[in-house]
Amino acid sequence: MEALLETEVAGLKLRNPLVLASGILGNNPSLLKRVEQAGAGALTTKTILPEPTRGYDNPVVVELPFGLINAMGLPNPGIKEFERELAEARSEISIPIIGSAGGGTPEEVAYVAGRLQDAGVDAVEINASCPHVKGHGLEIGGTPDSLEELVAVVRRSIRIPLLVKLTPMTSDIRSLGEAAVRAGADGLTAINTLRAMYIDVDAMVPVLSNKVGGLSGPAIRPVAVRSVYELAPISDVIGTGGVESWRDAAEMLLAGAKAVGVGTAIMTRGLEVFGEILNGLSNYLERKNLSVRELIGRGRDT
Ligand SMILES: Cc1cc2nc3c(=O)[nH]c(=O)nc-3n(C[C@H](O)[C@H](O)[C@H](O)COP(=O)(O)O)c2cc1C
Repeated sequence: MEALLETEVAGLKLRNPLVLASGILGNNPSLLKRVEQAGAGALTTKTILPEPTRGYDNPVVVELPFGLINAMGLPNPGIKEFERELAEARSEISIPIIGSAGGGTPEEVAYVAGRLQDAGVDAVEINASCPHVKGHGLEIGGTPDSLEELVAVVRRSIRIPLLVKLTPMTSDIRSLGEAAVRAGADGLTAINTLRAMYIDVDAMVPVLSNKVGGLSGPAIRPVAVRSVYELAPISDVIGTGGVESWRDAAEMLLAGAKAVGVGTAIMTRGLEVFGEILNGLSNYLERKNLSVRELIGRGRDT
């Protein structure tokens, strides 16, 4: 049963392909422990910045029938406080922890990445793709040239596996992936949210305090599947975007993802989602007489 679900991504061995996506649950150690107990194969921390930030004022999330738009503004405790939280979480959690590093310049991201490594994460994921915070994410990693520089600087600062989280807001995601791999990335996470907006027609104003936010959930899943399809030939990929059911997870694996991120579904349906997806996926694999490793990429060329 376990072997049926095992996989490996960017040098990390996972008991199953499900990875908690960045930013969904914060970094509270007991909450992260519950993610492990709920069945996840690995977890990603919220993006950590060098200094504490408050994030945006409410409202920061709009729920729509087909997904969420969020503009949290990367609220976080800063790397110093996070080190304390991670020390507590690390001693209790045995699945791989992926530390998400952010910052306003390549040097800031590299600084956070180095400290995350020293604090005991198993891999670093560069958030090169947050679409709604000025001076961060997309603005320092949104083009192949800027991304290559960013990844190269971070690569020099750590020895553990390095993942790069990509934006789908480009005409050519493969060029972004290739730039990251050239600069030393061991794997890619695809995708982050898409820049989006929602206007309340009665109040006649944008609902989010930041006006613009990032769209996640079922609405973006076909974009994520296509992105995985384009990136899998060049690197290991964690396919992330709109996964809510075992069918969605299977689709990501068939497109070539080595692991599958789950984000919005945890916010809307709770941590039980991990168990539900794993049960359904196990039954599917038994019916098909395949393991996860054998399923990966099998839907690419028929
Ligand atoms: C409320 C919220 C907060 C997020 N915060 C982060 C973050 O801190 N860093 C990051 O790289 N991605 C962040 N994301 C993006 C998710 O990790 C994920 O890439 C995206 O939501 C698509 O997956 P999903 O449809 O399963 O949520 C956030 C998404 C949501 C909905």
